[in-house]
Amino acid sequence: MTDSDVGAARTPGGDPARPTVAGSARIAVGSDYDVLVGRGLLASSDALASALAPALGGRVERVLLVHSAPVSGYAERVAATLRALGVTAYLAVVPDAEAAKTPEVAAGLWSMLGEHGFTRSDALVGVGGGTVTDLAGFVAATWLRGVAVVHVPTTLAAMVDAAVGGKTGVNTAQGKNLVGAFHPPAGVICDLDTLVTLPRADLVAGMGEVVKHGLIADERTLALLEADPVAALDPRGDVLAELVERSVRVKAQVVATDLREAFLREVLNYGHTFGHAVEHVEGYTRRHGEAVAVGLTYAAELAHLAGRLDAADVARHRRILGSLGLPTAYPPGRWEALSAAMRRDKKTRGSLLRFVVLDGIGHPGRLEGPSEDLLQAAYAAIGADGASGSAGDR
Ligand SMILES: NC(=O)c1ccc[n+]([C@@H]2O[C@H](COP(=O)([O-])OP(=O)(O)OC[C@H]3O[C@@H](n4cnc5c(N)ncnc54)[C@H](O)[C@@H]3O)[C@@H](O)[C@H]2O)c1
Ligand SMILES: [Zn+2]
Repeated sequence: MTDSDVGAARTPGGDPARPTVAGSARIAVGSDYDVLVGRGLLASSDALASALAPALGGRVERVLLVHSAPVSGYAERVAATLRALGVTAYLAVVPDAEAAKTPEVAAGLWSMLGEHGFTRSDALVGVGGGTVTDLAGFVAATWLRGVAVVHVPTTLAAMVDAAVGGKTGVNTAQGKNLVGAFHPPAGVICDLDTLVTLPRADLVAGMGEVVKHGLIADERTLALLEADPVAALDPRGDVLAELVERSVRVKAQVVATDLREAFLREVLNYGHTFGHAVEHVEGYTRRHGEAVAVGLTYAAELAHLAGRLDAADVARHRRILGSLGLPTAYPPGRWEALSAAMRRDKKTRGSLLRFVVLDGIGHPGRLEGPSEDLLQAAYAAIGADGASGSAGDR
């Protein structure tokens, strides 16, 4: 398998040395790897071969294809294409959703790699949501101290977030993502057509991260969402395609300049301090993107109360999130549990809480050690009755 197998179409203005599939966008994450965003990438084995070959390079003999049961059909297509390229492909179906991200499931995959004699020059491919790409990435990071992994994300959240950036990991009994490694993929292939089968609630939840990317860095994303939220949620439409592409660009830009958790990367945590607390308090029963939407509203109210974001921009957070069907309010009476959860979050430094806040849309900054009064006032402002803060603007 060499680059010469690859189709001749080029991204306009892109690097001519990097071939791409006609009609798709190729987004470089620094000089490390590319994210391909397009349609029909899995349906056509030529298109898929064109996408996979440069990501895997010429030396791969074996691939372990990790996937969950709901996306078996997509995984079979990837396997067939790999076989046509002369690669031996093994399929590993893992438990669905968060049940995939355990040390036991990872150990099962290590056993398969061992039984089939996987070497340093072989690879993994993860087909599925963020749970599968996190797991496949983690196993790739640890097998022989690191083999290549290619992600084929099939949820909106995985396309715009989990599959890009190189964070991998599994959960333990003590919490989520406690064991992991930084291991950037060799390539990411986002086929927008896979979103057609994604449950609507997962599509909506994935929009939480798209809105986040818009708020921290991309006005055009916000404008697209405001112009037509219904079109934004049509998995067959051009609006969603542009949104995914733009969102991947935001994440790619941030992670390319800073692989580890320094300030630039920290802006990607916008809405996540409170969002993670919501997830924790609810025992991880709520979709991540929904919790992030609540967290974004909380962070906006906090910034407003701290005199850094005006009321119109807070209202804009609510309007955009609400128009997509995302939550922007939270029931009162849970402050103690939420506060304790925020203080336990691995992103806090010592006992000082810190938040990413906006000094205007597109201008993220840091808020360190806000007072208890301010924190509680922001909580009151997102109260489910919507009676306080800027909630009335909805
Ligand atoms: N590594 C990172 O930087 C990063 C960032 C964000 C989130 N994450 C992780 O991602 C995970 C969440 O990922 P998710 O939101 O994609 O959820 P998920 O992986 O649980 O997928 C949601 C559900 O949709 C199903 N599914 C996936 N694609 C489908 C399709 N095209 N058609 C039909 N069904 C489909 C899955 O099988 C699952 O049941 C969390 O574990 C989170 O920690 C990681
Ligand atoms: Zn997130």
